Amino acid sequence: MIGNDVQKAADILRQGGLVAIPTETVYGLAANGFNSEAVLRIFEAKNRPSFDPLILHLCSTKYIERVAAIIPEKAKQLADTFWPGPLTLILPKTHLVPDVVTSGLPFVGLRQPNHPLLKELFEHVDFPLAAPSANPFGMVSPTTAQHVEDQLGDRIDYILDGGPCTIGVESTIVSLEDPDRPKILRYGAITQEQIEEVIGSVGTQISSSSKPSSPGQLDRHYATSKPLELIESAPQHKSEQTFIIGFGADVGNVFDLNLSPTSDLHEAARKLFSFLREADKSTALKLMAMRVPDEGIGRAINDRLKRAAHG
Ligand code: TXA
Ligand code: MG
Repeated sequence: MIGNDVQKAADILRQGGLVAIPTETVYGLAANGFNSEAVLRIFEAKNRPSFDPLILHLCSTKYIERVAAIIPEKAKQLADTFWPGPLTLILPKTHLVPDVVTSGLPFVGLRQPNHPLLKELFEHVDFPLAAPSANPFGMVSPTTAQHVEDQLGDRIDYILDGGPCTIGVESTIVSLEDPDRPKILRYGAITQEQIEEVIGSVGTQISSSSKPSSPGQLDRHYATSKPLELIESAPQHKSEQTFIIGFGADVGNVFDLNLSPTSDLHEAARKLFSFLREADKSTALKLMAMRVPDEGIGRAINDRLKRAAHG
């Protein structure tokens, strides 16, 4: 059921139920992060493999002290600069964090989200919320309450509707497992340049493998059900069988949807997952999407497109 009753959402969470929550990035599928049984239900509802750890969403920056055993200076600086916001930090966990949340790893992903309705919800619960994106494992992430309803509506207790997500792609993940060598595990709204301005140079470990350190790195992820091909520029012609997602002013009218006619990468990020869903629902047999400039949040967009198109 979709609604905006914060009290009801809090009651369900307290009782160990599942609630889809709005965040500024994408919708999350939340449970009480201190309740192992409730967290297990997230894995079941999403069909998510148990080796794929969840992010803990915190009510405040200060709360990090309860769930992170060591908070290196660089982590403090990043949290102070970007929280609440689309940045996830990987840090050593405390004993308060159940092993199911981290898939048995001694490290936990932490973020303080920035969404007005979620902030309100945090006033009614006294535990962090474990939440992956609210989509079936490997599929396109949700940026509206209706997206969640379409894919998981019958498996969760409540969907808290906070309107369309303002950013549209998931948080940037920075691992501080070795504080001397921080590295980006997933591109997101906060760019590498922004991070480096705060803590100096960071490495990246984005490329996928058969045993990725962040399963968001799996080759095939964010997938549409119809085959998707990435293209560098707009094609000359358009056939009925192909649905084309364009970007920018140069695509003429050889496209079905344009991520941003003014080449605004933030607008493109906001629309990306909705457009992939719309394309998937069309009568076309095949989808095409144009790569966007590989800069700023464009890197996160290209990363998601590449994985959606893989295989
Ligand atoms: O913006 C976001 O991050 C959204 C919203 C809901 O907050 N959440 C999200 O969660 O994208 P999810 O589960 O779809 O992606 C989180 C990624 C996963 O690929 C997971 O493997 C990685 O974070 N992750 C979580 N904990 C980790 C850990 N301890 N070590 C390495 N990677 C971790
Ligand atoms: Mg996800």
